Amino acid sequence: MNDNSYSKILVSWYEKHRRDLPWRHSSDPYVIWISEVILQQTRVAQGLAYFNRFMARFPNVCLLAQASEDEVLKYWEGLGYYSRARNLHEAARTVCEKHGGVFPRTYAGVRALKGIGDYTAAAIVSFSYGLPYPVLDGNVFRVLSRLFAVATPIDSTEGKKTFRRLAEMLLDESNPGLHNQAIMELGALQCVPRQPDCPQCPLIYKCMAYAEGAVSAYPVKQAKAKSRPRYFHFFHILWGEYTYLQRREAKDIWQGLYQFPLVETDGPADFTDLQQAEDFRCLFQRCGRLEISVRRQNVRHVLSHQVIYATFYSVRVEQEGEGLRSYLRVPAADLPGYAFPRLLQNYLQECPDE
Ligand code: ADE
Repeated sequence: MNDNSYSKILVSWYEKHRRDLPWRHSSDPYVIWISEVILQQTRVAQGLAYFNRFMARFPNVCLLAQASEDEVLKYWEGLGYYSRARNLHEAARTVCEKHGGVFPRTYAGVRALKGIGDYTAAAIVSFSYGLPYPVLDGNVFRVLSRLFAVATPIDSTEGKKTFRRLAEMLLDESNPGLHNQAIMELGALQCVPRQPDCPQCPLIYKCMAYAEGAVSAYPVKQAKAKSRPRYFHFFHILWGEYTYLQRREAKDIWQGLYQFPLVETDGPADFTDLQQAEDFRCLFQRCGRLEISVRRQNVRHVLSHQVIYATFYSVRVEQEGEGLRSYLRVPAADLPGYAFPRLLQNYLQECPDE
């Protein structure tokens, strides 16, 4: 069953209220793809600057494919979820090398690219090619859950099926791109998470949550799993004008980004505890006299499934001991050229030369 009455209202509202955003002037799937992946990470206001910088440096898919992973990560620095940037780079290589630089033309072809899920594939093919696939992002889940007062949690398997059916029912197949933009924009501007101004909403007479007087009860979510705490101790080491870095290679957080030498402990640890740790002793083996000071203590940094408690030490060493040789020795003045996780970027901004 298909009901276009919602879409008509949505689209006429959208034409009046839409924001003028650069990716909305393009139907190039590369442009749509980059904007959507950035907007999964951040809000439009901050995403705009990232988008403009990214497009200026990588204006087409082959220029992105040819760049180094380090450079792509540098352009992504601060957005978080760095696997998204690595996937973007890998998918660009696939398009450039396997498809001759031409984006796949079908949903299945686009969906098969690394890092492109249902949402991004639907956004690309509906905005770029006008194919009839509904988008389901956080905004759309919220709009649908309120319109139909859906009590099934949006993050449950059953909920996903229910919402997909609803989204398919509302999709105007004669204009899926515009419809998708319109429902997302309604979620972003009108049907906002907290205190929406319902009397201004074009769908007020169709909204079941409003009729129930329970708009704020939707969307329903499952209880969240607890975040894992981790305890990081970073060493901003100084040897003359040099410092030391390490590229994170493991399949853990921040893969491909740089950090100071790190000792991780199982629980909170003060400096006395740290000195007992094997990793700490290895790191500073034969470094001579150490001048150590604490720069930042217990900085709390929240990621999607982990909470990091970070302490930063500055350590001036007398010699470059063996433990340091496995790290990258770089002039302290070159630090701005490396891609760091937000936690380290914040530290470097607050304590640049220590
Ligand atoms: N959020 C996600 N995709 C978007 C888009 N295309 N325009 C505005 N906000 C968005």
